[in-house]
Amino acid sequence: MNWNPGSWRTRPVVQVPAYPDPEAQARVETRLKSYPPLVFAGEARNLKRALADVADGRAFLLQGGDCAESFAEFHPDNIRDTFRVILQMAVVLTFAGAMPVVKVGRIAGQFAKPRSGDTEVQDGKELPSYRGDIINAAPFEEAARTPDPERMIQAYAQAASTLNLLRAFASGGYADLHNVHRWNLGFIAGSPSGERYRALADRISETLEFMEACGITPDSAPQLRTTEFYTSHEALLLGYEQAMTRIDSTSGDWYDTSAHMLWIGDRTRALDGAHIEFARGIKNPLAVKCGPTLSNDDLVRLCEALNPDNEAGRLTLISRFGADKVEEHLPRLIRAIKREGRKVVWSCDPMHGNTVKASTGFKTRPFERLLKEVQTFFAVHRAEGTHAGGVHLELTGQNVTECTGGATAITDADLSSRYHTHCDPRLNADQAIELSFQVAEGIRAERFKAQKILAAQ
Ligand code: TRP
Ligand code: MN
Repeated sequence: MNWNPGSWRTRPVVQVPAYPDPEAQARVETRLKSYPPLVFAGEARNLKRALADVADGRAFLLQGGDCAESFAEFHPDNIRDTFRVILQMAVVLTFAGAMPVVKVGRIAGQFAKPRSGDTEVQDGKELPSYRGDIINAAPFEEAARTPDPERMIQAYAQAASTLNLLRAFASGGYADLHNVHRWNLGFIAGSPSGERYRALADRISETLEFMEACGITPDSAPQLRTTEFYTSHEALLLGYEQAMTRIDSTSGDWYDTSAHMLWIGDRTRALDGAHIEFARGIKNPLAVKCGPTLSNDDLVRLCEALNPDNEAGRLTLISRFGADKVEEHLPRLIRAIKREGRKVVWSCDPMHGNTVKASTGFKTRPFERLLKEVQTFFAVHRAEGTHAGGVHLELTGQNVTECTGGATAITDADLSSRYHTHCDPRLNADQAIELSFQVAEGIRAERFKAQKILAAQ
């Protein structure tokens, strides 16, 4: 198919930095090529298989983490807390849907950010935009904003040790279902709207007790004390991704070994552009962000380019329209995909279409709007008879105040107290878990509709 890891370089490319010293950049990329892969191709294939179940309506995808990871906030507690909140959500969703939940972090490599302009002007001074810690630094100073290729090495090192800790948590006992459920009971006890979720949590408690009485315990059934946790990030900085792309000796195929799953953003999905050229040649599971400007024809062409064999699990479509635009755009995209007989995972990113400026000046996202986008996503899929397959969230395990609303009712005035994000506003741990209980209601509605249809047949 006339592809190689560097063939993107012949295509128009947007959203990558201009390094002042291209030779230094090339030296770093050569060095990275000799570093160990972060993930093994076989793991990416396992994820693809798990996502094929999502595409077929037999599993659910939960993807979440920071908008952007940063060098400054690199700390084991942050990694632990993000992992923990994703697992807490996963237990609720697994129970609600009675189906496996595929857990994918926006973590261990989510460093590069697309920007609306190449430069930023402050007080008459113009400097390169901040593009994420893998490229430059945020302070508005010449030295900080100059793209530095050595940052790719630091990002690689941070991703490697983050992934190492995640693997330890996933298999070492921290992910024990009983632990995670206990944390959820703690959430319910401490949340003003906790009583709403008590009934569901009590049924999980009873189920665990029943299993225990039957002799199914974390000691006797290892799948109760371990989990599979995958990593993902936006494939934006193509020089870095190319350096991490290797031939898998088992299959002879190319894999981007920087993460299990990679996605292409709404700003870099041009059909003839460099990012699509790069992505089409790697065998990892891929996702594409779908915003309001995506036409039906372009969506179909993206599917042809990225998934010519129509393999289930290869391609996830992450819709991000904004709460009031879902009904306008999602049905037309779903119908185009149905018409073409394309196998995809449908996931909902309720974050990026619902960013507003608070009265106090902060960039925020009202919890009610996020909830509405997710609920409309479920309702549209119910009406179209397709599987609402997943959610994609920006969240943190920290107790931040970045999105307004939620059970503890964060107001515009509260935002200043713990507004820590490097980039976009994230759900805090309580808001994320509360959202998962709400998503659980959408999943149950789909499940019981399906059962009713079966019973009537
Ligand atoms: N191994 C199963 C799974 O990952 C069950 C499980 C164990 C689990 N620990 C978990 C599920 C934590 C969710 C969260 O699905
Ligand atoms: Mn973001």
